[in-house]
Amino acid sequence: MKIWAGRSAGELDRAAEDFNSSIRFDSRMYKEDITGSVAHAEMLAHQGIITREDGEKIKKGLLQILEDIESGSLEIDSEAEDIHSFVEAELTKRIGEPGKRLHTARSRNDQVALDTRLYLKGQAAQTVELLKKLSEVICKKAGQYPDTVMPGYTHMQRAQPVTLGHHIMAYAMMLLRDIGRLNDGAKRMDMSPIGCCALAGTTYNIDREYEAELLGFGGVCQNSMDGVSDRDFCVELCSALALVMTHISRFSEEIILWSSWEFKFIELSDAYSTGSSIMPQKKNPDMAELARGKTGRVYGDLIMLLTMLKGLPLAYNKDMQEDKEAVFDAFDTVKAVLNVFIPMVDTMSVNEKSMRDAAAKGFINATDLADYLVSKGMPFRTAYKTVGEIVADCTEKNITLEEMTLDEYVAHSELFDSGLYEAINIEECVARRTSLGGPGKGSVEKQIAYVMEELK
Ligand code: ARG
Repeated sequence: MKIWAGRSAGELDRAAEDFNSSIRFDSRMYKEDITGSVAHAEMLAHQGIITREDGEKIKKGLLQILEDIESGSLEIDSEAEDIHSFVEAELTKRIGEPGKRLHTARSRNDQVALDTRLYLKGQAAQTVELLKKLSEVICKKAGQYPDTVMPGYTHMQRAQPVTLGHHIMAYAMMLLRDIGRLNDGAKRMDMSPIGCCALAGTTYNIDREYEAELLGFGGVCQNSMDGVSDRDFCVELCSALALVMTHISRFSEEIILWSSWEFKFIELSDAYSTGSSIMPQKKNPDMAELARGKTGRVYGDLIMLLTMLKGLPLAYNKDMQEDKEAVFDAFDTVKAVLNVFIPMVDTMSVNEKSMRDAAAKGFINATDLADYLVSKGMPFRTAYKTVGEIVADCTEKNITLEEMTLDEYVAHSELFDSGLYEAINIEECVARRTSLGGPGKGSVEKQIAYVMEELK
């Protein structure tokens, strides 16, 4: 029989019962549900709403239930309507009358809002830890290759020389912002909804602030209808997770490209790549592809949450039960991805020679050649045109800028002298880019130091 049996018999049609039940996905909040109830009993006793004795019996009973669930001696009933009714029913089964007093000045509406906030606080913290770990791994890799020259691309065309350290530190910067967004979301979520009750507060002399403090919240929701209806925090965290996945997916795409035969910039460790069932030569970047593929799931979770909320009148509506599967899936997915992505990046090996070879072709020092002419007094726009003609000349002769003779250069402009070769030396091109945030070794080291400091 349902806890709400009374007006109705509390017996549902079987299909309706399964359809209505949320135990399948909310049972994972058992600890938060019990923690919330312990604090509620304490507050009720503190305020004299229930006796100290009943309060103690309730707390003891709840903690025993928690212990039994964790030890495996109590199985959560998969037939229960939700985790809240399961815990309450189990408590009453164990301690009788006092158990029936726990739900005074409380509704499942504020209870579920509380449990979800407590649960997601833990999820956000775990995810932030993983993001920090990934940032550290990236910093470590960048520190190993601060002057490993590679082509930087725009439009997937070789553009200007950068370093591997510089390239991957871009991802560390994105991750710093991701960490900031998750922490911001968690901070805004840090308001206790308990005591909002069904929607309109209560006539009992409760102390919401005391209960919030017991639960470690920074404050309490100031409007009871908002407190039970707000799922902004799910949307906000899910949106931060969607961006995490965007970044992981872009990085994955590069790892997939870089490990192809065409690039050969990196090689994934055997532990993080797979073979083909038919083609013996294959080493496939499945982990990176799955990370890229799972991005769509998290976007889907975000859209699901936004859409679920957009038409809901205040206050609680059962639609809101759908929040949990979406936001839980988003956290589960991101954590699963990071748990594989972090060691995959950590163990990938780098082929510096392939990167350097790729940087030698494709005229990525053409801008530097134009800058050289500018240093000799030519206006940039004229230098740009002259170098464009030189590149066309080289392409026709099938040679690189380095291979062109001084005589051939002078035929394009009198301003050239033998100093041009140093100007277009790729290592020099990188080293001279000393502007803040640039690809040179010193700059990459500063970026690493910046990120490591921010991570503290
Ligand atoms: N399982 C419900 C949920 O997740 C708990 C709240 C139920 N409230 C209610 N009035 N039926 O939203």
